[in-house]
Amino acid sequence: MNPHQDASTAGARPSEIVDLSRLLAFLEIDETDRQRLRELAPLMKSSAVAFVESFYRHLFSFEETAKFLKDPALVTRLKESQLSHLESMLEAEWNDAYTARRYRAGDVHAQVGISPQIFLGAYNQYLQFYMRQLAAQFDAPVREYAEQVISLQKVVFLDIGLTLEAYFTQATHNLRRALDLVYQANAELRQFAQLTSHDLKTPLATMANLCDEALDEFGKEMPAEAVKLIDSARGRAFRMSNTIDELLSATISLSLHSEDDAEEISSEQALAEAIDQVRPLLDQKSIELTIAAGLPRVLGDRVRIREVFYNLLSNAIKFSDKRKGRIKIGYTLRDGECIFSFADNGTGIPAEELARVFVPFRRLPAHREIPGSGLGLYFAKNMIEQQNGRIWVESELGTGSCFYVLLKRVDPKL
Ligand code: HEM
Repeated sequence: MNPHQDASTAGARPSEIVDLSRLLAFLEIDETDRQRLRELAPLMKSSAVAFVESFYRHLFSFEETAKFLKDPALVTRLKESQLSHLESMLEAEWNDAYTARRYRAGDVHAQVGISPQIFLGAYNQYLQFYMRQLAAQFDAPVREYAEQVISLQKVVFLDIGLTLEAYFTQATHNLRRALDLVYQANAELRQFAQLTSHDLKTPLATMANLCDEALDEFGKEMPAEAVKLIDSARGRAFRMSNTIDELLSATISLSLHSEDDAEEISSEQALAEAIDQVRPLLDQKSIELTIAAGLPRVLGDRVRIREVFYNLLSNAIKFSDKRKGRIKIGYTLRDGECIFSFADNGTGIPAEELARVFVPFRRLPAHREIPGSGLGLYFAKNMIEQQNGRIWVESELGTGSCFYVLLKRVDPKL
């Protein structure tokens, strides 16, 4: 899989998702129209400057539009933009550059806060101008006919303006519903994380207390080695409890990390801490762990990155089913990025399940017997994406899996 491949259309320019030729066909715009428009161009251009003046007079006469035109220098610029816009309409060169300019204009107006109703409504000015220019060449009945067409056109614009409102209300409503669902899911996850953390921390505190009691009561009679072991178990229980707190704050935090507040951290240290946490499991299953030398410094939050590494390692251990289990951690550097790889020779994931491994609470049917919440990889994905990174997996059933984590790093060339 290509790590840079992304199926979503997020950030796509409209030109990538709208088919101009289909739009032209739907509007029944063809070669004949192109010819006609080009023939009309000189007639329209002869009064274009006067049109632009009347266009802005119109906008100045309404509070809703005048408020955007307070800067005289901007208005001078806008008049030029408007002239070139009108000209390009009559050139009738419908290509990518044409659409790009329209999208840009749409973008710019949306950004400054001009409503679509007002923006599109202003096209009525264009049409009135075109009609009157045409009709001016003829006598009274044709001019009267043009005025009739203009009246009809005005009510069409009224319809367009009013119905647009319905489209936006609908779109906003859908967006709100989606946001509500996200907030609800987030609240449920937060509650789940808090409950889980409580359930995990209570037995840990009991364990630490039991260790204390054992040392208090029998410490003096115990061999020094036993005291050391119990003390170390007590220490681990405390550390585990801290880890749960850190993990809780890391996973439920709603704050979005921007690249600006990412710290430069040692991935080697984060990995060492994660390995420390899984060491007993590694030893228990006699898994051979190999780590590439010289792990780089990366941009991100140390706790989150450590937890992701921990999650990937403990998964690799959990799903290790060979007599000689192996986990190999490597990395590849690119400009401003590092891709870590966690390869194992475990059970592997069936091809049809690969797309679901990062979905919350989805556990593979074959793994139902193995303990786990079904949230680990979901959290890992969230945490990595919060660091502006990416995580993905390649796997072969029966042979093993390789998880990749892409993290940003300070570009050495900068
Ligand atoms: C027929 C409708 C309209 C057309 C064809 C049109 C065209 C344009 C064009 C081509 C630009 C330059 C965009 C660029 O930077 O590439 C522009 C900018 C702008 N237009 Fe319009 N416009 C229209 C309606 C309006 C209306 C109704 C207003 C309301 C006051 C308005 C206010 C502005 C402003 C404030 C900018 C500058 C935005 C910025 O750069 O900060 N436009 N317009």
